[in-house]
Amino acid sequence: MTDSTHANKTESVIPTPHIEAAKGDFADVVLMPGDPMRAKFIADNFLDDAKLVTAVRGMFGYTGTYKGVSVSVMGSGMGIPSIGIYSYELFNFYDVKKIIRIGTCGAISKDLEIFDIVASMAASYDTSFVKQYNLPGTYSAVASYELLRLADDTAKKLGIKLHVGSTVTCDSFYDEMSQVPSWRKMNVIAVEMEAAGLYMVAAAAEKEALALMTISDKVEGSEGTTSEQREKSLTNMITLALETAIAS
Ligand code: HPA
Repeated sequence: MTDSTHANKTESVIPTPHIEAAKGDFADVVLMPGDPMRAKFIADNFLDDAKLVTAVRGMFGYTGTYKGVSVSVMGSGMGIPSIGIYSYELFNFYDVKKIIRIGTCGAISKDLEIFDIVASMAASYDTSFVKQYNLPGTYSAVASYELLRLADDTAKKLGIKLHVGSTVTCDSFYDEMSQVPSWRKMNVIAVEMEAAGLYMVAAAAEKEALALMTISDKVEGSEGTTSEQREKSLTNMITLALETAIAS
């Protein structure tokens, strides 16, 4: 990539500065937890024959099989800038077709409990990432209908309760001037830091994306969870994402 904005997709260079995998190392579908150690956990515990395909900056990516179907899992890091880089390179340079984010989020809706699973149908946002697209209006960041429909059907088959709703993607985890009541008024049910960026990158690349998240905390109060509890509670969401991936 020669120009300072890295805008030219046709000059794709593999390996990229951020991913050292070879062409063909990734499956058509990549599951993306925020934490690269969670990617390792999924590769070790849910995939067969998983091979490490990239480890630049410790952002581990693996490809293996789930029920005989090739699936990859790779960390996204935290926030839109991080998932923006990895999802861009996976879609545009590695020919990945679908990305399913599997992360955590904070509950805004009072109807959500810790460890409930949310599918982000639409991701509102408070980020400047969208400015790169030079749009003459506001943009609606939405999930792939196909992946969302499959995830919803799969959740029903597995008996997993899935809350399909609208979420918001923010650039700050520590929200000094809490914006939560305003988002709640608009029936936004949860907050996290990646979905809208992923949806924008997917749309621009004409690819598919879905964000699934477990509730790790309630933003206006009370109990949080430990990283150990979170890891265990992810099993349902991981299974849902893997079953959706192989059905897609
Ligand atoms: N805010 C933003 N991102 C998050 C949260 C939160 O409360 N919980 C998990 N990811």
